[in-house]
Amino acid sequence: MSGVARGAATLEAGGIALDRAFAALKRLEPSAHACWCYDLDALDRRAHRFRRAFEPLGPLAAYALKANALPALLERVRAAGLGAEAGSLGELEAARAAGFAAALRVLNGNGRTAEEAAWAAREGVHSVNADSAAELDLLERGAAHAGRPLRVALRVNPGVATPGHAYVATGHDQAKFGMSPADALEVWQARDRWPHLVLDGVHVHVGSQLLDPAPLGAALDCALGLADEAARRGAALGLVNLGGGFGVDYEGGAEFPLEAWAAELIGRARGRDLAWVLEPGRWLVAPVGTLIAEVLWVKRRDGRRFVVLGAGMNDLLRPALYHARHRIVPLRARAGAAEPATVVGPVCESADVFAADLPLPPLEPGDLVAILDTGAYGAAMASNYNGRGRLAELVAGGGALTRARAGETPADLAARDRADRLDP
Ligand code: LLP
Repeated sequence: MSGVARGAATLEAGGIALDRAFAALKRLEPSAHACWCYDLDALDRRAHRFRRAFEPLGPLAAYALKANALPALLERVRAAGLGAEAGSLGELEAARAAGFAAALRVLNGNGRTAEEAAWAAREGVHSVNADSAAELDLLERGAAHAGRPLRVALRVNPGVATPGHAYVATGHDQAKFGMSPADALEVWQARDRWPHLVLDGVHVHVGSQLLDPAPLGAALDCALGLADEAARRGAALGLVNLGGGFGVDYEGGAEFPLEAWAAELIGRARGRDLAWVLEPGRWLVAPVGTLIAEVLWVKRRDGRRFVVLGAGMNDLLRPALYHARHRIVPLRARAGAAEPATVVGPVCESADVFAADLPLPPLEPGDLVAILDTGAYGAAMASNYNGRGRLAELVAGGGALTRARAGETPADLAARDRADRLDP
C-alpha cells in the first residue's frame, strides 16, 4: 500500500494535504513546478515493522542510503534502530553525519578506493563487503595503518537469476558483482594472509524489487552452503549478509511478503552461530515518497491527449531507465469521465514519459498530480539534465511540514562553473 492516504478530497502525507504542502513551498520557491514530499509517520511505521519482522534473528538492518539519503529520513531510520549501508565515501560521510555509530555502518561497492578503505578502517564500520580478492590488500593496508581489525565479508555471486528488469538483477552469472563461490572459499582458507582483516563473512545481494522471496531463498542456500563448506575446510564463518531486494507494490498488486520471508529465514538460521545483516532500501522508503507535479500544459494531437508535467525524467528517471510504472493520481479530481492521457515531462527526450494511455479525469494547467511510491531511487537518481535544478524535498510528520532540502536554482547550477588553471 502506498504511504500516502486519501483524506476527504485530496492526498495527504504526515497529516498534511499534499496540495497545501505544495502551496506552502511555492511561497518559498515561487518558480517551483514540482517537489518531493515524504511522510515521516509512514516511514516510522515501516522501519518498526521491518525491525519487528526480523527481531528474533537480531540482525543489523542497514538501510541502503542509495535509495534516499535525505538527512531528515536518515534521522528517522536511525531513531527506529536501523543501521546504514553505504556504497561510497559520500554515503559513509552521510551516515556518520546522521549519527549512525560505527557498529551500525556497512560499506559496499565494487569500485573500492583507497579513500574508502582508509575511512572504514579509521572511522570504523560494522563490516565491509569486498567485491573481489584483489581488494583485500587495499583493505589490509587501511586496517594496518589504522592499527585495528576490520571485519570483511566476501561478496559472492551466487548465480541466482531474478525476475524483473535486467538492470536491477545483480546475482546472475553475467552481473559485474561479486566473486565466485570457489574463489571465496580459497580466500577464507588463506585468511591469515590478511592479519588485520577479520575475514569471516559472506555477502549476497541478488537483485532489487523482488516480490517473490524465492531468489532470496536461493541466495540463502548459497550462503549457508558456503558457511558449511568453509567450516569443513577449517575456516568457519561468523557473518552472513543477505543484502536487500524487498520489493514494493507499485501497481496496487502484491507486496513482498516480509513477515513470511522473515519467518522462513529465522527458521533456517536457528541453531547456527551467525551474525546477520540485511540491507533494505526500497521497501522502507519507496511508499513514503510522492512526487508532486504541476500540470504545465495539456496538448491534443490526432486524438491523443498529452499531459505535460513540471517534473521530468531528470527528476524521476525510473520510467525512462527501467520502464517502471508509478501510479499517477490528480490531487483534486475534476468532474468528468476518465480518458487516456500520455503523461510526459518537459525534457527534450522521447523517453521522458511517465505513463502512456493512462485513464485520467480531465486535467487543466495548474492542476497538481501525485506520482506515487517515489521515495526510493527518485530524488537520489535525479540529475541536472536540460539545465534543470533538482527539486525541493519536503517532509511531513505529526501534522508539521518542513522543507528538508531546497530546490536548486539556476544560480546554484552556475556556481560550479569556475575555471581553475591547472599545472599539467
Ligand atoms: N545492498 C546492495 C549491495 C545493493 O546494491 C542495493 C541496491 C541494496 C542493498 C538495496 O536494495 P533494495 O532493498 O533497495 O532493493 N535504481 C534501481 C534500484 C537499484 C538497486 C541498487 N542496489 C531502481 O530504481 O529500481
